[in-house]
Amino acid sequence: MRLFIAINFADSTRQKLFSLCDELRLHSEQGRFCLPENLHLTLAFLGECNATQVITAKSVLDTITFRPFGLTVERIGRFKRSNGDTWWAGLRVSEPLSNLQSVLSGKLTAKGFALEDRKYKPHITLGRDVITDMKPHKIDPFGETVSSISLMKSEQNIGITKYTALHDRKAII
Ligand code: 2AM
Repeated sequence: MRLFIAINFADSTRQKLFSLCDELRLHSEQGRFCLPENLHLTLAFLGECNATQVITAKSVLDTITFRPFGLTVERIGRFKRSNGDTWWAGLRVSEPLSNLQSVLSGKLTAKGFALEDRKYKPHITLGRDVITDMKPHKIDPFGETVSSISLMKSEQNIGITKYTALHDRKAII
């Protein structure tokens, strides 16, 4: 199964993110836009994993310690793609987020997971294959306190993406 580790947002943040999706959709002639329940921030993408790797990934998550930290969404941007761009909500630079992502990646790599070696660019994908007249821009910032990270399973069924949390790791309060 296809796995990744992510931060899932509270409903209020998800709603604000979905409003950004809606605005993007209104300005687009093409695109596949994320469903509100699917909006998340990926920390590490593990790819296709077997049952043993699921157990290993859960045990790695259990070794991660972090304190609750704030995340702020402050802009809309894109990754240029030939078939239409990937548009995302971008975050204010956060040292706790970078530290968490780097510790997690180090531990997963040490357990044999082949993570992408591209530099981590934290982003919350809003839409894919998007053709729009919108330009990247700053937005009124909003955010929340992150107090949990999750091992997620990704499934595709008749073109619909479904994410399920398999395991959570809570912050130390
Ligand atoms: P994306 O939103 O930029 O596509 C589930 O697919 C999550 O894992 C998404 O947040 C996705 O990022 C992320 N991801 C990271 N690397 C990926 C890859 N090589 N293939 C698919 N998804 C990847």
